[in-house]
Amino acid sequence: MELGPVLGEAVSDSEERTEELGEALGSVLAAGDVVLLIGDLGAGKTAFTRGIARGLGITGRVTSPTFVIVRQYQGRLPLVHADLYRLEEGDAFAIDMLELGEAGYVTVIEWGDRSAGIFAVHDPLAVSVEVDGAQRRTIAFSGSADRWGGRLAAAGLSEVARGAGA
Ligand SMILES: Nc1ncnc2c1ncn2[C@@H]1O[C@H](COP(=O)(O)OP(=O)(O)OP(=O)(O)O)[C@@H](O)[C@H]1O
Ligand SMILES: [Mg+2]
Repeated sequence: MELGPVLGEAVSDSEERTEELGEALGSVLAAGDVVLLIGDLGAGKTAFTRGIARGLGITGRVTSPTFVIVRQYQGRLPLVHADLYRLEEGDAFAIDMLELGEAGYVTVIEWGDRSAGIFAVHDPLAVSVEVDGAQRRTIAFSGSADRWGGRLAAAGLSEVARGAGA
């Protein structure tokens, strides 16, 4: 599945740092944006989403939507937080979410790679959280440069470890 070129990369050494990176992204998100979170169980997808929520000015507690599938929060923009873990690929629930990308929401989807083909129409940002150690995570941002390059730069998330600035 095509997620677009890697536009930025960051290393996190704590849950709080992962939340800060999410907050930086959240501060540049706009209505209609779709963010696909990719990574193993316990990688930090929900932690990153808590940061996005903070960046959107959401003050309430953000909890994992694993069992409820979708939760919604109100901030500077409404945030829809979904988790596809318990769904089958191509599940009707996932197809239903297509509408969420078109409304005035920011949509964040954990395990979004499971239905990346369905969400591709929204030109999503893919955020992959890779476990490198007990506390260490590599967080990479991929998507179309046209839609996401400028905003990742504005958020301070556009450094690419391999060769940037060299
Ligand atoms: N650098 C880090 N960033 C994020 N979480 C970390 C980090 N280091 C350790 N952790 C721990 O990893 C776990 C991440 O949990 P979280 O619920 O965010 O993962 P998840 O990817 O959403 O999992 P799931 O697939 O079950 O939804 C937490 O227990 C957190 O304390
Ligand atoms: Mg989670």
